[in-house]
Amino acid sequence: MLQQVEMATEKGTTLIEVRGLKVYFPINKGLLGRPANYVKAVDGVDLFVRRGETLGLVGESGCGKSTTGRAILQLLKPTAGSIKFNGQELTMLPPSYIRQMRAEMQMVFQDPYGSLDPRYTIGQIVAEPLQNFKRGNAQEIREQVADLLQTVGIDPTYRNRFPHEFSGGQRQRIGIARALALRPSFVVADEPVSALDVSIQAQVLNLLQELQGKFGLTYLFIAHNLSVVKHISDRVAVMYVGRVVELAKSEHLYQTPLHPYSQALLSAIPVPDPRIEARRKRIILEGDVPSPVNPPSGCPFHPRCWKAQEICRTVIPPLEEKQPDQYAACHFPGR
Ligand SMILES: Nc1ncnc2c1ncn2[C@@H]1O[C@H](COP(=O)(O)OP(=O)(O)OP(=O)(O)O)[C@@H](O)[C@H]1O
Ligand code: SF4
Ligand SMILES: [Mg+2]
Repeated sequence: MLQQVEMATEKGTTLIEVRGLKVYFPINKGLLGRPANYVKAVDGVDLFVRRGETLGLVGESGCGKSTTGRAILQLLKPTAGSIKFNGQELTMLPPSYIRQMRAEMQMVFQDPYGSLDPRYTIGQIVAEPLQNFKRGNAQEIREQVADLLQTVGIDPTYRNRFPHEFSGGQRQRIGIARALALRPSFVVADEPVSALDVSIQAQVLNLLQELQGKFGLTYLFIAHNLSVVKHISDRVAVMYVGRVVELAKSEHLYQTPLHPYSQALLSAIPVPDPRIEARRKRIILEGDVPSPVNPPSGCPFHPRCWKAQEICRTVIPPLEEKQPDQYAACHFPGR
């Protein structure tokens, strides 16, 4: 088995700090090659992830969750903003350093069918990062691959089989083994169970949680839906049109959401207790999610917000600590 990592004593300190992150994609390139416009996929994200925790990142499709995760991992270049890992600014690092940092930060993808190259055996797939980073001779790498497969619950004697010979859940386990090969400290899990059968989802979530304890991992766990992240997140960040609008401990967010958008999302989740469920008031949001090409001025939620005042149309509310350890980007937070 892989060596167990001593949980650093500084558990709970900040591992990742993101400020003012923007990622704009140029669209409609004109004749002169100049972009006519931009998709503002991420438009001023602030968040931080504490060492050893799982931070859930939720929001509707297209709000910029994956782009945020990819930018943090340096898989795409931010348009603006700061990303610190262990206090070190990543956006300024030369490419050779970024390569070294990559070993520390890995991604588990949503699609266990598309993310494993079908032309390689699973042994080759898991070995590849170890070879790239020269983590031992052929024999040592073989042993590490066997350990990794064992750790995620795949029989190492299957190493010469190809991805299509495995089920969706098994492929996701193989993807996790590959992500862990270089012993990262930080993993972005981008909807890692959304494509799996419901019966398999809990198994993969349990595996991720078990691995977190064993290897002292810190997770950014991306999901569409607040119910998925509820059980596994220490804290949750809620995104809306390219921004984080609330960042709080799970229990605070679920019990006393401060941002109207979080309140609306939560009101849509059924409560198991029938007495509370009977009193549950659904907040039905009017209008559509705005386009990230032309996001609204001021607070991006103002066209749909029942509490909006004039200031909301003009001044972007910064993400601020409104209650202890509960951050919201709203001029009028709370009920
Ligand atoms: N390479 C790209 N070029 C142009 N637009 C892009 C690109 N990647 C993402 N986008 C756009 O940026 C916005 C945010 O996309 P992103 O994939 O980050 O959202 P998401 O929150 O992960 O959505 P989902 O829940 O559907 O996965 C979307 O409008 C998307 O169409
Ligand atoms: S800032 Fe204004 S519009 Fe935005 S969520 Fe708060 S109250 Fe609503
Ligand atoms: Mg996504």
